Formats: sequence, structure tokens, C-alpha cells
Amino acid sequence: MNNHILFAVLLAGVPLSSSQAGSATVNTLLQEYAILGSGPGDAEQGKQFWQKMFNNNGEHSCASCHTKDLTQYGKHIKTGKAIKPMSPAVNPERLTDSKKISKWLKRNCKWTLGRECNPQEKANVLVYIEKSQTLQD
Ligand code: HEC
Repeated sequence: MNNHILFAVLLAGVPLSSSQAGSATVNTLLQEYAILGSGPGDAEQGKQFWQKMFNNNGEHSCASCHTKDLTQYGKHIKTGKAIKPMSPAVNPERLTDSKKISKWLKRNCKWTLGRECNPQEKANVLVYIEKSQTLQD
């Protein structure tokens, strides 16, 4: 009987913990960035960074592929392939895998900015993505 209750609790806990995994993953990354000298992530700064045009192999921003509305599908400007929404509010897979996040941040920053993003820029962007909700401009 006790085992059954425990099992039920564990089962019930599964969706709970996976829906919180985004924040846990982001928190771990934010701690890494802080060790490297960043302050706390700032969502407003992250939003501005997301939309800022950089001039590396042409004028692009993060929004060029991911759009300004993180709850919408994006489109890769070179391949034309659809990119799933970035907002964990509509795509719970986002911000759950720190290796994936680090890999793509490195790649996309290099492509967009011509350099890697610094720890503060990464912290701002992750907090921005994490907080993004429907109906934001
Ligand atoms: C040329 C198109 C393109 C641009 C520009 C771009 N990205 Fe991406 N990004 C992608 C693709 C493709 C993926 C991987 C496919 C996927 O995850 O849907 C991705 C994935 C990501 C992820 C992984 C998120 C997760 O948890 O799954 C992050 C974070 C990210 N991009 C951030 C950025 C940031 C920050 C910028 C601007 C500096 C940026 N991207 C610019 C195409 C782009």
C-alpha cells in the first residue's frame, strides 16, 4: 500500500518537475555566468539585445530567425526551415537542456555578432526568453 502511494506521488511529480526544469536549467547557467562575472539577467536588456541588428555577414538580429514574438514559430533565414517557438510558455522543451542552450548560443552568437556572447548578454537573453509570454511585441 505504501509503495502504491509512493508510486502515485512519483508519477504525479513527473510533470511538475519537468515543467520546472526550464528554470532549474536557467538558474544553473546563470550561476555559471555569474562566476564568469555577469550580474543578474535583465529581461528588458535581453529583449533589446534580441532585436538589435549586428553587422556580421549581413545585418541580422536574433529575431531574424526567431522573430520578435517568442511564442511564434521562427524561420531560418538561410535554409527557410521552421524553428519552433522559443518561449517555454508555449514550447516546454525550451531552456531544459543546458548543453543544447550553450551549443546554440555559441553558434548563433558567432553567426549573428561575429563573436561569442559575453556572460552578461547570455544571462539577459535567457531571462528574457524564460519570461516571454504570449502577446508581447
Ligand atoms: C540563422 C538563424 C538563427 C539566428 C540568427 C539565431 N538563431 Fe538561435 N537557433 C537557430 C536554430 C536553427 C536553432 C536550433 C533549432 C531549434 O532549437 O529549434 C536555434 C536554437 C537556439 C537556442 C536553443 C534554445 C533551446 O533551449 O532549445 C537558443 C538559446 C538560441 N537559439 C538563441 C539565439 C540567440 C541569443 C540569437 C542571437 C544572438 C540567435 N539564437 C540567433 C537559428 C538561429
